[in-house]
Amino acid sequence: MKIFEQWESEIRGYCRVYPTVFKSASNARQVDEAGKSYIDFFAGAGVLNFGHNNKRMKKAIIEFLEADGITHSLDMYTTPKRAFIEKFVSTIMKPRGWNYKMQFMGPTGTNAVEAALKLARKVTGRTNIIAFSHGFHGMTLGSLAVTGNSYFRNAAGVPLDHVTRLPFEGKAGGSVASLREFRCSLADTSSGLEPPAAVIVEPLQAEGGVHVASEEWLKEAQKLAHDNGALFIVDDIQAGCGRTGSYFSFDGMDIQPDIITLAKGIGGFGTPLAMNLVNPIHDKWSPGEHTGTFRGQGISFVAGREALSYFDDDSLMKQVREMGGVMREKLAGLASKYAAKGAEVRGKGMMQGLDVQDGAIAKEVTRRCFEDGLLIGPCGTGGKVLKLIPPLTIPREELDAGLDIFARNVDHVLGGTS
Ligand SMILES: Cc1ncc(COP(=O)(O)O)c(C=O)c1O
Repeated sequence: MKIFEQWESEIRGYCRVYPTVFKSASNARQVDEAGKSYIDFFAGAGVLNFGHNNKRMKKAIIEFLEADGITHSLDMYTTPKRAFIEKFVSTIMKPRGWNYKMQFMGPTGTNAVEAALKLARKVTGRTNIIAFSHGFHGMTLGSLAVTGNSYFRNAAGVPLDHVTRLPFEGKAGGSVASLREFRCSLADTSSGLEPPAAVIVEPLQAEGGVHVASEEWLKEAQKLAHDNGALFIVDDIQAGCGRTGSYFSFDGMDIQPDIITLAKGIGGFGTPLAMNLVNPIHDKWSPGEHTGTFRGQGISFVAGREALSYFDDDSLMKQVREMGGVMREKLAGLASKYAAKGAEVRGKGMMQGLDVQDGAIAKEVTRRCFEDGLLIGPCGTGGKVLKLIPPLTIPREELDAGLDIFARNVDHVLGGTS
């Protein structure tokens, strides 16, 4: 590991949590150079929804490469891009009666958010964005401005302006009523408040500590946007692509976002891809106005198309709902056991978090889990929430084995058992 410590920047983060060198991976297992196998409950921070080296995707990618397919094309028309768009339209959009335009940009989540914010500002001619406490939207300056966490914000080096922050549902002062009050204030032209270009929200906050918004609150957030001539942007970058038991985390709710940001799992294989779904009436870009070298990647389109085939029927999503229930039950047991210490379970589908109220405790559980062969990632303020996001394709036995390791170490750290 010396070479990394000597030559790689101090910015190194996750490798400090998992101090080993990983060599190979398959579905929900990662193996290090010493041959130790780990169950992966982290899944590339929500990228590997369909597991490491997904066999279906690997086969499709190998065939594509052997046929000298187009791997890089800026935003030129290509065969794999067409196949991806066709599949996305038939599998995801048509069943929902949607006609969003698909915008590809640089391949990470923050690129999608930047594009969404820029488009909202262009469309409305306004600058201010309404964002929520504990929101996480990325590290580039526009996305960072709408992100809540002070550790990340403090590294910006410039003021992070043009954002009004409201409390997320359930956080101090965050409720349907408080959103409604703010909406009424905004409508008052003497309120001194600037009319917003957009309201941006994660229906299920992931990095911010696993907070789930209710349909009622999200509808109020949408109304806040629409009644004030602003766009409603839903960031489903981590909670989308099947994580919660349906393709979007807000499926089944009566909301109609103007822009939906997607990345992470959409590339399927761990290969980067980001895409915004944009209401056609707001698709006001001039050609190439928001450009980028890596706008849609051939390999990601091939793998991403294959990923979409998991939504041809409900079998994987049914499994996600069932396994999400198993995770929830296990964590709820721990939460009630340690209720006196403030432990709390939150989540939806196969994103479940145990809030242990203390970053040092969460860190120790994570360290012990790592030693016991389980990868998990703390999140939330001070890293006090243990977020479990295994690949959706994890075999049931491995899910159970991972949950047992987790529970054992929570018991050890919180309950003092050995
Ligand atoms: C909801 C959400 N939006 C945006 C991002 C930023 O994505 P990326 O790290 O790929 O830039 C993340 C990353 O965790 C995220 O969870």
